[in-house]
Amino acid sequence: MKDIQEVKERILNLLGSIDRKGIDKVIKYLEESDFFIAPASTRFHGNYEGGLGEHSLNVYELFKEKNERYDFGLSEDTVKIVSLLHDICKVNFYTVYDKNVNIAGAGEKPKWIKQPAYGVKDDLPIGHGEKSVIRLLQFMSLTKDEILMIRWHMGGYEPKENLNNISAAWNMCKAATALHTADLESSYILEEHFEPGENKNQTKLRGVR
Ligand SMILES: [Fe+2]
Ligand SMILES: [Fe+2]
Repeated sequence: MKDIQEVKERILNLLGSIDRKGIDKVIKYLEESDFFIAPASTRFHGNYEGGLGEHSLNVYELFKEKNERYDFGLSEDTVKIVSLLHDICKVNFYTVYDKNVNIAGAGEKPKWIKQPAYGVKDDLPIGHGEKSVIRLLQFMSLTKDEILMIRWHMGGYEPKENLNNISAAWNMCKAATALHTADLESSYILEEHFEPGENKNQTKLRGVR
């Protein structure tokens, strides 16, 4: 796990270096939200305080490498926008509730305690990639490639009726495949996750709304 303050400073520096009308509004929105303390998910990866910021920065670092390796020719601003902001749909999205957890060992009598756990409260339920795109468009413009990359960053985790569109989009914009794989590598190779009831998890829930 990375230091929350360090992650926040790096992300704000990177976003602050983007030359696009409206990026200042995105930055203000993030600073006034839970973006830097929210988890990245409830249970799959980065489910601890600061997980979303850490995940966004990891995706940026991997995607920046892929842009060079595959010579996609994306501008630095595009790399920053699509990687750091692909999950902006998760801002003010997670809640904390008391979950009943059995802490007894195998074969022992059940022992239930309440432990804080992450839940979800979506105030704009319009999808995942869709929500990130639309939220960003409320603040600034996006190019067609940026829309394709952010919209389809979940790849094969989308419902199967979307798979034809994903293929078409990825053939149109090869870098969109790389944003998806950067997201996946970051989530399952670089980030930790905690099972319900793990003590460490409990200490990582402070302050999240
Ligand atoms: Fe996502
Ligand atoms: Fe992500």
